[in-house]
Amino acid sequence: DWTAGNVVEDQVAAIREAVGEDQVLCGLSGGVDSSVAAALVQRAVGDQLTCVFVDHGLLREGEAEQVEEDFVAATGVRLVVVDAKEQFLGALAGVSDPEEKRKIIGREFIRTFEQAARDVVQDADDEHPVKYLVQGTLYPDVVESGGGTGAANIKSHHNVGGLPEDLQFTLVEPLRALFKDEVRMVGRELGVPDAIVDRQPFPGPGLGIRIIGEVTEHNLDILRRADAIARHELTEAGLDGEIWQCPVVLLADVRSVGVQGDGRTYGHPVVLRPVSSEDAMTADWTRVPYDVLAEISTRITNEVEEVNRVVLDVTSKPPGTIEWE
Ligand code: XMP
Repeated sequence: DWTAGNVVEDQVAAIREAVGEDQVLCGLSGGVDSSVAAALVQRAVGDQLTCVFVDHGLLREGEAEQVEEDFVAATGVRLVVVDAKEQFLGALAGVSDPEEKRKIIGREFIRTFEQAARDVVQDADDEHPVKYLVQGTLYPDVVESGGGTGAANIKSHHNVGGLPEDLQFTLVEPLRALFKDEVRMVGRELGVPDAIVDRQPFPGPGLGIRIIGEVTEHNLDILRRADAIARHELTEAGLDGEIWQCPVVLLADVRSVGVQGDGRTYGHPVVLRPVSSEDAMTADWTRVPYDVLAEISTRITNEVEEVNRVVLDVTSKPPGTIEWE
């Protein structure tokens, strides 16, 4: 019988068996998947676990702080925060192709974990170096990256198809057979706080795959401000439960003519992509009330100078995917 309790019991036993006395590293993003994976591994091997939060410069406003507040406070897990902004933005410079971006981000994540592992090993027992890396990979990540049976590669999720070939870690992926709603049940079973378990999904590659065009500090700054407004207004309108997630996408490669005050503008559009879904394998666009959309549009175009148009994505998945890249 599938119950969250059985999953916890089975996975805890499997993780103990696989890891033994060794040290384990976990990439923690603060999202549902990696938090639940970390909580499972903590249950299994306790303080052999060190979590690493990578600030890759592709985060939304306030995100780094939230991880410490929510997850560390709730679990007491050991957390290392790595500032890798320069490294990621350097590696992404000049790159616009979506798959290329995804592969670069996947690779840089691993390089960052390797470095963190070396740092952690220094004060760990030499006989027990860090061999294991925990990832919160879900079943849909595997399928969409072409890892399922007969599936085409739709996009390389950073933690599956985006992994470098010379990966030295043995992966521990206790959620690999689960869908998001099941992961949430397992999280609740483990006592992970609702603030994390109910959080909307946010992709590991972050805002890097929500900029159509080059990922620069400038573009990130524009998108971050627009995204914060959209998130704020959707939350205020009480729509967080209904919406699975709402990517805000900056069309950095597109410009259009507008007018503001008595002047011509030649700015960028942002796309709102609110979707409703059960498991992210399929999705429908959420019928957000017009007055909420109007408020988001007015605020973004007033407050984010570089954006002079807000458009709504009314495509289901399929044929669209949730993220634009
Ligand atoms: P798509 O765009 O494939 O997205 O319809 C399905 C779900 O997966 C998330 N997503 C990712 N999550 N790493 C992640 O951790 C990734 O590389 C990645 N790509 C997409 C997306 O936000 C949606 O919830």
